[in-house]
Amino acid sequence: MTTHTRSLGTTGPQVFPLGLGCMGMSALYGEADRAESIATVHAALEAGVTLLDTGDFYAMGHNEMLIGEALRTAPTALREKALTSVKFGALRDPDGNWSGYDGRPAAVKNFAAYSLQRLGVDHLDVYRLARLDPDVPVEETVGAIAELVEKGYVRHIGLSEVGADTIRRAAATAPISDLQIEYSLISRGVEDRILPVTRELGIAITAYGVLSRGLISGRLTPGHRFAPGDFRSFSPRFQGENLRRNLDLVEALRAVAEGKGATVAQTAIAWVLSRGEDIVPLVGARTRERLAEALGALDVTLDAADLAAIEEAVPADAAAGTRYPQALMADLDSEH
Ligand SMILES: NC(=O)c1ccc[n+]([C@@H]2O[C@H](COP(=O)([O-])OP(=O)(O)OC[C@H]3O[C@@H](n4cnc5c(N)ncnc54)[C@H](OP(=O)(O)O)[C@@H]3O)[C@@H](O)[C@H]2O)c1
Repeated sequence: MTTHTRSLGTTGPQVFPLGLGCMGMSALYGEADRAESIATVHAALEAGVTLLDTGDFYAMGHNEMLIGEALRTAPTALREKALTSVKFGALRDPDGNWSGYDGRPAAVKNFAAYSLQRLGVDHLDVYRLARLDPDVPVEETVGAIAELVEKGYVRHIGLSEVGADTIRRAAATAPISDLQIEYSLISRGVEDRILPVTRELGIAITAYGVLSRGLISGRLTPGHRFAPGDFRSFSPRFQGENLRRNLDLVEALRAVAEGKGATVAQTAIAWVLSRGEDIVPLVGARTRERLAEALGALDVTLDAADLAAIEEAVPADAAAGTRYPQALMADLDSEH
């Protein structure tokens, strides 16, 4: 297995080449099994995974408490290797509705205090605002995290779903380890304007949605029904004709994957890994079985002919439907 570490930017830590995205263990993809989720976190740490990604708003603290329990019950040697990557700032109400973003300095410190408590840790390894707060200059939000770094409560400052100009402004305020952004075979918007800037500034990418939320995992069937509340029940790429067209791309990818003796998911993850040493895919595995499959991507080597075959199977702009519903696309500074 290819397990040499990747650097989270020029100022961040060395990390295992795949991170574990824990969101689906609490929210957005239907019911998850708590015991299996915790066993998955332990299995990931056991396999060498270091980065555990969460957000304080994933089921309103549930995900952080779950990770907190997983860390508490892990053997000390594994717990000490874990690095927490935490998003904040997305506002919820008791019904779970989303009601904007808060990147004000006082709010940043308040969010961090609660995250430290829920995770049961004395510092957060990477801390980032989930979406740019349009009412607060990014310098103020990043400046507040920098104060938390000075006090030892945060080790590194990350960004999430912001565009080139915001990245430059943030990096001019304090050192930035990584930008978390959706990046997969069918979500390649990052390549034109954002990657050149992160590379110029020595900022890594933690890529999420590398399986496009299961769409390009090779397991989804056209007739699949998502539970109400599941992100995919209202996400454009999973609806009707869009879903049918997107699954055609998956079948084309399957042919390439089979030629490599790999699964579709492994091939999709290996493709993201192949984009550069500065890219760290976050995989949304929530069972040990899916985790084992995802880790298998580290054994898949893609040569120039493989990459060409993959590009032909899934051309850059081939996805049908936007990656978020229209109202949520408006929150993405990275898309403006
Ligand atoms: N910064 C942001 O705005 C943002 C947004 C979204 C997510 N994230 C972070 O990124 C992480 C990853 O995102 P994601 O969960 O959407 O990504 P993903 O890995 O693209 O999708 C996960 C989905 O793929 C399915 N899947 C099938 N085979 C899999 C395999 N071998 N390994 C993993 N999953 C497999 C899972 O289904 P089953 O579990 O049903 O098998 C799950 O529904 C999240 O957990 C979160 O921490 C960040």
